[in-house]
Amino acid sequence: MCGIIGCVGRDDETLDVLVHGLSKLEYRGYDSAGVALSGERVDVCKKSGKIEDLREALESRTLGGAAGVGHTRWSTHGPPTDENAHPHLDCNGDVAVVHNGIIENYQELRDELVTAGHTFKSDTDTEVVPHLVEDALADGLDNEAAVRRAIARLEGSYAVAVVVSGDDTIYAARNDSPLVLGLDDDAYYLASDVPAFRDFTDRVIYLADGEFATLSAEGWRVSDVDGDEVDKDVDTVDWDPEETGKSGYDHFMLKEIHEQPRAIRQCLRGRVDELSGEVDIGDLGDLSPTGVQFVACGTSYHAALYGAQLLRDAGIPAQTFLASEYATAPPPIGDALVVGVTQSGETADTLSALREARKRGARTMAVTNTVGSTAARECDHALYIRAGPEIGVAASKTFASQLAALNLFSLGTTRIDGAREIIGALRDLPSNIQAILDDSNAESVADTYVDSDAYFFIGRGHQYPVALEGALKMKEITYKHAEGFAAGELKHGPLALVTEDTPVFAVVTGDGEMARKTIGNVKEVEARDAPVVAVTDGQSDVERYADEVLEVPETHPQAAAVLANVQLQLVSYYVADKLGRSIDKPRNLAKSVTVE
Ligand code: G6P
Repeated sequence: MCGIIGCVGRDDETLDVLVHGLSKLEYRGYDSAGVALSGERVDVCKKSGKIEDLREALESRTLGGAAGVGHTRWSTHGPPTDENAHPHLDCNGDVAVVHNGIIENYQELRDELVTAGHTFKSDTDTEVVPHLVEDALADGLDNEAAVRRAIARLEGSYAVAVVVSGDDTIYAARNDSPLVLGLDDDAYYLASDVPAFRDFTDRVIYLADGEFATLSAEGWRVSDVDGDEVDKDVDTVDWDPEETGKSGYDHFMLKEIHEQPRAIRQCLRGRVDELSGEVDIGDLGDLSPTGVQFVACGTSYHAALYGAQLLRDAGIPAQTFLASEYATAPPPIGDALVVGVTQSGETADTLSALREARKRGARTMAVTNTVGSTAARECDHALYIRAGPEIGVAASKTFASQLAALNLFSLGTTRIDGAREIIGALRDLPSNIQAILDDSNAESVADTYVDSDAYFFIGRGHQYPVALEGALKMKEITYKHAEGFAAGELKHGPLALVTEDTPVFAVVTGDGEMARKTIGNVKEVEARDAPVVAVTDGQSDVERYADEVLEVPETHPQAAAVLANVQLQLVSYYVADKLGRSIDKPRNLAKSVTVE
């Protein structure tokens, strides 16, 4: 999704800081990029394509100015062309604007502005903003008042940053799209996401909807829609800039897969008592919901499916909804809790479902990785998964941490038979994941099946969400056809697609009824000559029917889901690598999707 960076107070370094910030936002997914600096005049340089293309274009330009804004664009209105890239200018070239989100009334505003004589150069919704500011300036308003008047006309979601010729100030506002300020001793930053300026400062202020910020070398100010100053807390980011580097790995995704033992340790730290082995999740333990509705998208949806199953295992009615389909969900009953599972805390579909849940009178909780995110701030409660920054667009370590956190939630809020055993298995997760990472044959499995036509993934019970996630990972980063199914469903249709060129990954752990039945499904596949890759802890005899085996250590079935997923992540990673795919930034995808 689009990314914003802004910087004041770095004198001659402004341009370098902006381009550096843009490179740190690349992970969000984008198809064009640009910068604007305000000196005596506003100077803009923007290009479709990668940051490298922008850098090249900048080589033949001299852009100077003490205040600047930059943008990575992920197309919504109009194709990824130089003209549609941000920043956008007014008719005089004095006002430059970058924007994330969607301006819903842009057509109406554009028609009005065109009638008034403005000339538009792009297909974007954003371009109405500089023209609105231009009009307000022409009416004699000062820069801040002009930007405020323009913002007041916008409907929809936006994080907007504006610079004006001859003014070393950045004006910014947000509604339903994240913006965070970074404070250093004599320089100030603005971004859609902390990694953009984390190399320069760890002191941050999260803007709330309706707030307006002005940043200049002299200082910063946050105010409300009426212009009244708002007192803001300054937070300190607790992760290191190095965590956003590749640390010698070829890809962020591989690094993040390898960070899973540490991520799980962080998730459990202080929440599982070392001596008693009991789970303590603070006030969240007192929520005692009579029912839970989960809402989520993508990988987080798979984590939510798993979380709902844990609660049902503990006797609490729990359902999972795709956030974008929540409008069709039954109203939450009684003292129900609606839980949004969202790594970023900024996914528009999930935020909108949580808002709908609040309107319906439910209590809400965010299960998120991002302190200060919109979901964390808007929900009544937040359970942080503490995975550390995840840069690869395809989620990996955050899925593992979501599963761990959801285990803590179910253990902390309910009475579960066998809790001690589950807690033991959670504590063993880091070493068990490490054992897989040290000894996985996933690369050789990838080698064997890299040329296959399609990949199927099956699992039952706790392993069903893992099958779905295995398939999602495969399609996201390899661009190959992959589907995940509840093992029992295979014979009800998808079996028609199974051939000798479609390997089936079967997740079979334990030796109970679930395993026995899934093995039955494996035999159905084997009889159609499809290659079978068993992901197993060796407790059942699934290996007899498998062409390849990916082993996981023996553990509780709930924890086995996390382990099996690590093997599947590695297979997808190596298939994508062998195909030369853009693993960290797959085509058409964005890390955080802030439009519905
Ligand atoms: C995007 C990402 C997915 C992610 C989904 C939900 O589609 O590409 O990897 O699972 O958003 O993101 P969230 O931040 O809400 O977990």
